[in-house]
Amino acid sequence: DTSELGLIGLGVMGKSLAKNLLSKDFKLSVYNRHVDQIEVDVAKKFVLEQSDTDTIVGFDDLKKFVDSLAQPRTIMLMVNAGKPVDLVIDELLPYLSEEDCIIDGGNSHYKATLERSKRLAEKRIHFLGTGISGGEEGALKGPSIMPGGSKTAYNRSGKYLEAIAAKDKKKNSCCTYIGPEGSGHFVKMVHNGIEYAEMQLLAETYHILRFYAGKTPVQISNIFNSWINNGLKSYLLEITSDLLLKTEGKDFLIDKILDKAGQKGTGGWSTNAALELGVALPTISESVMARNVSGIKSERIKASEIYQFSTSSNSIDDTSFISDLEKAFLATSIINHHIGFKLLKESSEVYKWQLNLSEIARIWTNGCIIRSNLMEQISSLLLDNNDTSLLLFPEIVKTMKSNINSLSEIVGTGLTAGFSLTVLSAATNYFLTYTSAQSSANIIQAQRDYFGAHTYQRVDKPIDEYFHTNWKN
Ligand code: 6PG
Repeated sequence: DTSELGLIGLGVMGKSLAKNLLSKDFKLSVYNRHVDQIEVDVAKKFVLEQSDTDTIVGFDDLKKFVDSLAQPRTIMLMVNAGKPVDLVIDELLPYLSEEDCIIDGGNSHYKATLERSKRLAEKRIHFLGTGISGGEEGALKGPSIMPGGSKTAYNRSGKYLEAIAAKDKKKNSCCTYIGPEGSGHFVKMVHNGIEYAEMQLLAETYHILRFYAGKTPVQISNIFNSWINNGLKSYLLEITSDLLLKTEGKDFLIDKILDKAGQKGTGGWSTNAALELGVALPTISESVMARNVSGIKSERIKASEIYQFSTSSNSIDDTSFISDLEKAFLATSIINHHIGFKLLKESSEVYKWQLNLSEIARIWTNGCIIRSNLMEQISSLLLDNNDTSLLLFPEIVKTMKSNINSLSEIVGTGLTAGFSLTVLSAATNYFLTYTSAQSSANIIQAQRDYFGAHTYQRVDKPIDEYFHTNWKN
């Protein structure tokens, strides 16, 4: 009597995924690595807690866990990204057989996934590097799942992933085979990059409403709700609207939270990937930098005392500021998604992954952190044309044309009043450069040629001809 699936790692995400799998009646074996005496019985304790099902068995012995699985085996790892993944793989290997499959469901770096795939392929073990988004609730009720790697492994184990994933509007699973080794975790990384910038955009929007427009958290929550009703629905907007209402005694909890942002790295990884691939990623990279600057709190306090810049506020009694901000918010969100999808497109070309961008957007319409009405629209636009940049679709052009002035307006007003609007300005700058036929880069080329004889191309000569000028004569 064997289990069809094994799961290693009973942290928050692992437990929720296990419960999700059980709710679909899969037969499951679970194992938790012994870290210390206290955690020894994690797996068995968890199994006892699942009293309404008898399709789960818990093990504190790895060999017995592996032996409990039907062959070829499918084992899902829900352990912390980094070293723990390699440790578990090393411990597992002596007990595995050829054709077994390992699924890594953590936020692993795509290059680590590529290495692991190679190492395991030598032992004829399949590997699926799988991005999973949606936090604890998503894992429990239906996350968005991004598996990449061995196609054979996906053909065998995709049914489990597809069953536990969220469903899109047409009731299709928010899980799809992404592509070859590394692509699943790359796509999850870009998901998180987009997530970072959307979060920073919301933070800036809140901040300017609170401290420039003088609105209370409750009023801001109401403003966000009205935007949701106007069609800007997104999970991140909803939770931000909600968290603003949380009180602690007489205070808003948000006012008690230290303004230093943490990060586990995926935003920075996206930025590194963009640098390696030579693509622009300003909204995302700037949101990482904003978190970094937030981290030097004591120096910021010192600088604020030295410079004594005061921010001006304005009690807004008409609706035009809020209406402009809503438009600026939408425009920035569109630009951010355009930027994220361009990174996906470039990676797909360079790594020959043949990513189906529309499918990726579709599995991001539910279960994941960046699910939104905009994602629904992106998914259907890309369905007609997988190759076009988002900002070039006629529907998007129309929206941008009616919102872009508000974006510039808000950024101008906010910066002048002394508020840092990192992502809003990054989006504006990107858009202005992206839509300029003539950029300032001719000066860069002249400078490079001046000091380093790096040569330049000319507007009046064929593109493959390079020129050097002796600038000092
Ligand atoms: C998700 C989240 C998830 C997690 C990130 C947050 O898609 O479910 O992105 O993966 O919350 O680890 O990342 P930071 O800790 O770097 O903000």
